[in-house]
Amino acid sequence: MKNTTVEQEKQRLLEELLSGLRQPQKMLPSKYFYDEIGSSLFEDICALREYYPTRTEIGILRDNINAITGRLGRRCLLIEYGSGASVKIRLLLDHLRNIAAYVPIDISADHLLNATEELRKEYPRVKIFPVPADYTQDFDLPEIDAPFNRRVVFFPGSTIGNFMPDQARGFLRHIAEVVGTDGGLLIGVDRKKSLSVLEAAYNDSKGVTADFNLNMLVRLNNEYNADFDLDAFRHEAVYNGVYGRIEMHLISKREQLVQIGSEQISFHSGESILTEYSYKYHPEEFAAIAKPWFHVDTVWTDAHGWFSVQYLTVR
Ligand code: AVI
Repeated sequence: MKNTTVEQEKQRLLEELLSGLRQPQKMLPSKYFYDEIGSSLFEDICALREYYPTRTEIGILRDNINAITGRLGRRCLLIEYGSGASVKIRLLLDHLRNIAAYVPIDISADHLLNATEELRKEYPRVKIFPVPADYTQDFDLPEIDAPFNRRVVFFPGSTIGNFMPDQARGFLRHIAEVVGTDGGLLIGVDRKKSLSVLEAAYNDSKGVTADFNLNMLVRLNNEYNADFDLDAFRHEAVYNGVYGRIEMHLISKREQLVQIGSEQISFHSGESILTEYSYKYHPEEFAAIAKPWFHVDTVWTDAHGWFSVQYLTVR
């Protein structure tokens, strides 16, 4: 019975992948980046010189940690969406002396439980209630046997930028429902900046982002018996100034046919598969997107004005 369900899920995913590849602008969903190899490549990206978001966000959190934890207040129930075992949550836990409890949510149950074990050792005074779930779908929060004053969602990394603006609105509405009256959202939002800084961050000189992007095709070959020739595609990320977003592409170097399952997909030379959007927002643009549900309390930024950490409260 369980096997049928796994098979059915695989079939559903194959259908999703194929339907993207049948569009005039071929597409693959960015959630498909993150298998074991992809997640590890993403960690490597975060450490790259050109990839400014991670270190800049950590710098902003560090420089403003007292003001930030002051906003979250006493006895806050901190819920992290897409938690890793990161330095970012440690910064908050180090300084939130009166936290009621911490609820990390992550799709990868194994990673979540390992990270929880580590954090429990490092922070024995903090109650941790891990939730293995896909936070983009409906999920139930556990019963929290600790009194709290407010719920605050922590959503760092500018992952909100990987949603289309309409999806971002829907997601913010969902977060407002989760945190409820008097709740808050502490979120990392990447900002618009010069083309050269943006494009270098997504076309790094070591080719790590290229490997991360091409890993999508490796997965299709391994998991769906596809026959993508990896040497026949190249990575390219471009900034689209009209929409204010980085667009990640895999570009076919020649005319070719690729087999996936029982289907053949044709590519002409130069044709691309779009794999990811990464939207960049001026603070006022993000405030407008969040406005139906949230009021922007504070925006913290770095000396270059490249990234922002924002605290929003429910209207
Ligand atoms: C996860 N996300 C915020 C990253 C970004 O910057 O949009 C994903 C990424 N794609 C290429 N490099 C990093």
